[in-house]
Amino acid sequence: MLRLDEVVKHYRVGDGEIVRAVDSVCLSVGAGELVALYGPSGSGKTTLLMLVAGLLTPDSGSVTVNGREVSTLSARERAHYRRSELGFIRQSLDLIPGVRADDNAALKLLASTGRRDAQRRVAPLLERLGLNGRAQQRAEQLSMGERQRVMIARALSTGPSLVLADEPTGSLDTDRGREVLGLLAEVCHERDVGVLLVTHDPRAAAFADHVHALRDGRLVEYKPDRAHAPFDAE
Ligand SMILES: Nc1ncnc2c1ncn2[C@@H]1O[C@H](COP(=O)(O)OP(=O)(O)O)[C@@H](O)[C@H]1O
Ligand SMILES: [Mg+2]
Repeated sequence: MLRLDEVVKHYRVGDGEIVRAVDSVCLSVGAGELVALYGPSGSGKTTLLMLVAGLLTPDSGSVTVNGREVSTLSARERAHYRRSELGFIRQSLDLIPGVRADDNAALKLLASTGRRDAQRRVAPLLERLGLNGRAQQRAEQLSMGERQRVMIARALSTGPSLVLADEPTGSLDTDRGREVLGLLAEVCHERDVGVLLVTHDPRAAAFADHVHALRDGRLVEYKPDRAHAPFDAE
């Protein structure tokens, strides 16, 4: 479903210096599969997701989603691809302050339907994510774990085939992080949604079908660090 083939993205910084942010990466994610990409800060994780989302164009190599190469899409097709085929859980929780949880979750749907219909469509998702009773709370009244679950609901609201998650546990404590990762994995499995999750959190490995590591833009073998042994998946 998602395939990266020899993807390269370099940034030119300062006086001609080149940062090899993503360097010849080959990777694939199948339907309903959760692939975790584990890497320290600066290893190229966010750049890689931006390439998959079509927000950046690779210098060379190809990103193919559902049989189409993202870089060949027109700006309009790319916007449609992002809206309908993709869910993107970004590193920063971009909930709109002062706005209710259900409206925040329904935000993507509002591009194509009215508020009532959008709320009706996100209601079962919010319930599945354990947010029943919280739908009418405003963003700032929610705990960090609840906010992250609203972001998951938003990402899944349009029925995407692929979800990209950028450090989804970054702002969560151990238990909440584990809970959110478990829910994300379960809900995506149920719906046959592929997930590419990038993180420096070793807990993610326990929920993944495949784990890779990224170091200085290159894929390397994942070796669990015993000092941060992942939780046993229950
Ligand atoms: N817009 C940019 N311009 C120049 N360098 C960048 C830019 N974005 C990221 N980088 C550099 O590319 C490398 C990978 O960054 P990033 O993809 O954000 O990694 P991660 O998400 O793993 O922290 C880092 O060295 C970073 O400083
Ligand atoms: Mg990042």
